[in-house]
Amino acid sequence: MTSTESLLQVRELCVDVGERRVLESVSLDVPAGALVVLMGANGSGKSTLGLTLAGHPRYRVAGGQARFDGKDLLALSAEERARAGLFVSFQAPPEIPGVKNNLFIRTALNAVRQSRGESPLDAFDFLEGAREAAARLGLPEAMLARPVNDGFSGGERKRNELLQLALLEPRLALLDEIDSGMDVDGVRAVVKLVQGLREKGTAFVVVSHYLQLIELLGPDQVLRLDRGTIAETGGLALAREIARSGFVRAAEPEEA
Ligand SMILES: Nc1ncnc2c1ncn2[C@@H]1O[C@H](COP(=O)(O)OP(=O)(O)OP(=O)(O)O)[C@@H](O)[C@H]1O
Ligand SMILES: [Mg+2]
Repeated sequence: MTSTESLLQVRELCVDVGERRVLESVSLDVPAGALVVLMGANGSGKSTLGLTLAGHPRYRVAGGQARFDGKDLLALSAEERARAGLFVSFQAPPEIPGVKNNLFIRTALNAVRQSRGESPLDAFDFLEGAREAAARLGLPEAMLARPVNDGFSGGERKRNELLQLALLEPRLALLDEIDSGMDVDGVRAVVKLVQGLREKGTAFVVVSHYLQLIELLGPDQVLRLDRGTIAETGGLALAREIARSGFVRAAEPEEA
């Protein structure tokens, strides 16, 4: 990566899902260590962008480019993207029956550690760190021994995403509505974790509908996605304007 190149660069990205073009042309830049908030009406394509960058097979890139840390992101497999330091949380984290949560997270963490030139953690060392992180995130320790998200409540699933984020310490994390369904302590835990990781240099793209969280995070930039393209770019003032007037105003500025 050159000194002027952003950590993540997306250029005119077009994505098809099923028979539909969902992302028309998305361009954005996330500098190393920055926090970008992505807003947009339901169905505007926010999750599609995250899952495409993560390498989900259902999302077919029909045009454009994405570079991450100087590499052609779209040429990498989903595993290679994670190993390169990209973390994407799910809006609706899936269950993985039969796979224990602690083994799942340790396997992911050791793959990332290997690519960073760090030694793998054995079950004992991993559990020590995982227990500590789970306690900080208000996730009962018993959840580590259960299958991934199996029978977890909505908020517990979100906290489990945060646990993975806390342990993986990625270079860039895209958090898709991590605050939805979380109680007030959960939202505080999100803010604390994001702040702590930012101090270590992690960059963030945060998808959220809630001004309260956005204000607490203090974004460097706020983007509004509309029907598969970035329609507005601004700062906190844009998030406040959307919270006040809604997306209809934003979609029809000439009538304001
Ligand atoms: N398999 C599919 N076939 C057709 N359309 C799809 C498919 N999957 C997603 N879409 C459509 O793509 C559009 C964008 O969906 P996406 O989940 O990215 O929106 P979003 O901005 O994350 O919305 P929300 O705020 O509700 O989470 C939606 O209109 C959705 O119905
Ligand atoms: Mg979504």
